[in-house]
Amino acid sequence: SSAAALLLLFFLAAEAVAAPSSITRRDFPTGFVFGVGSSAYQVEGAVAEDGRKPSIWDTFTHGGYSIDQATGDVTADQYHKYKEDVKLLHEMGVDAYRFSIAWPRLIPDGRGAVNPKGLEYYNNLIDELLSYGIQPHVTIYHFDFPQALQDEYNGLLSPRFIEDFTAYADVCFKNFGDRVKHWSTVNEPNIEPIGGYDQGILPPRRCSFPFGFACDGGNSTTEPYIVAHHLLLGHASAVSLYREKYQVAQGGQIGLTLLGWWYEPGTQAPEDIAAAARMNDFHIGWYMHPMVYGDYPPVMRKNVGSRLPSFTDEERERVKGSFDFVGFNHYVAIYVKADLSRLDEKLRDYTADAAVKYDMPFLKSSNQFPFGLTNDFMSSTPWALKKMLKHLQVKYKNPAVMIHENGAAGMPDPSGGNVQDDEFRSQFLQDYIEATLQSIRYQYGNMAELSGTKLSEAEAKCARNLIFISVFIVHRNGSNVQGYFVWSFLDVFEYLFGYRVRFGVYGVDFNSTARTRYQRHSAQWFSSFLRGGELRP
Ligand code: NOJ
Repeated sequence: SSAAALLLLFFLAAEAVAAPSSITRRDFPTGFVFGVGSSAYQVEGAVAEDGRKPSIWDTFTHGGYSIDQATGDVTADQYHKYKEDVKLLHEMGVDAYRFSIAWPRLIPDGRGAVNPKGLEYYNNLIDELLSYGIQPHVTIYHFDFPQALQDEYNGLLSPRFIEDFTAYADVCFKNFGDRVKHWSTVNEPNIEPIGGYDQGILPPRRCSFPFGFACDGGNSTTEPYIVAHHLLLGHASAVSLYREKYQVAQGGQIGLTLLGWWYEPGTQAPEDIAAAARMNDFHIGWYMHPMVYGDYPPVMRKNVGSRLPSFTDEERERVKGSFDFVGFNHYVAIYVKADLSRLDEKLRDYTADAAVKYDMPFLKSSNQFPFGLTNDFMSSTPWALKKMLKHLQVKYKNPAVMIHENGAAGMPDPSGGNVQDDEFRSQFLQDYIEATLQSIRYQYGNMAELSGTKLSEAEAKCARNLIFISVFIVHRNGSNVQGYFVWSFLDVFEYLFGYRVRFGVYGVDFNSTARTRYQRHSAQWFSSFLRGGELRP
């Protein structure tokens, strides 16, 4: 019958498009963005130049708290070498560069006077990118909180952060928004409260249960939740401002960037499966739940109780829907097991509230590498990215997603030379890019979730040859991923590991004053993929 023939045709067509044997970038939806990323403190250097004042990261590294007493004082020196870097980005063929603005460079005291040299630097960088047709994707705040505000009112612990952050974001929108069409308000607000206020291993080093260095005051039982609350409200306030004052005229998009570790049960026991779900709620749901439904996840309300701040009606409305897209920095699956006894602890912290303990088989051991990590310490778990994207689709109404970071750490050549051979990284990136495409294509949902989904060239061609495009689209419905950024463009200062780990697709020779860049295998591989080659290292 003709119905059967149609059905058969449909499957043939779907199959032709779906065959993953040799995928190329043309298989991604039109407008899908490929880029590489960095952040200000990690890449710029020039920390005391042209009016920049310290951030809490300068204080931390100068206090000797990073491995090897490493600092970002010079790092890859992008502040002086941005032209050379933009040329490399152009040669690589990326659509976009993700970078952050240093708050203490633009507004050195955190509030008040804008630094003309700061404006000039970011204007130059943005113009340089645009002159090559590279889109700037800008993070407004990436960990480098102004020390002045930390001293004045304890930074993120105070609701005064919200107003100052909004004013800072206003300066960014006003000066750069004519050219910047993709804004992320804050980077990883779901890890900053943990590192800085629960474990105390990141600035401002607050905690109640120190491991390693002693903490500088703090209360792990309450502070992480307060800090996260302020970050969320600061984000929502900046988004409201953007929508009211700029978005229509400037035509950009705004969101925030979460760390998207995926928590996986350590065993298939029901209690461990429940533990992993709890941890995903604590980690991803901490922001996604309020942003989609207007409150923290029920399990957080239950376990954290009155220590979890609440929203006024006005705040709830402001937070709900406060994103056009959500960025995710995805690296690994982390295994957890249930530990319900922790709920009996009086002074609880974040993992105690989630009633889990870590179980980390992804860490391999080596005596060459800090903290027992090896060259390929992050085992490749692309399935975890797929699970995370599926989770967002099912639980949070299929938001538009930017994969803002994905990448693999390597280590410097022990002989001091420059490692160019990073095929492990090319392989890692390929696996994750492939997983991204599969998530876009193969998941199923309903028609309503499809709005905004664009077709790839191949799919559009297929559609032109077929009449029953509507059927086809229904089956194409997948994750709404709109971009993928490799972390990182260059080797940079890495927060906990200084210069002992290298994430760059371009290496940087930190022994040379010129901070010479050199191309790695992964940069060549990514470039040939971007230029239409097949996805194969
Ligand atoms: C997360 C952070 O956003 C970035 O700054 C860091 O270097 C990478 N992930 C790697 O750890």
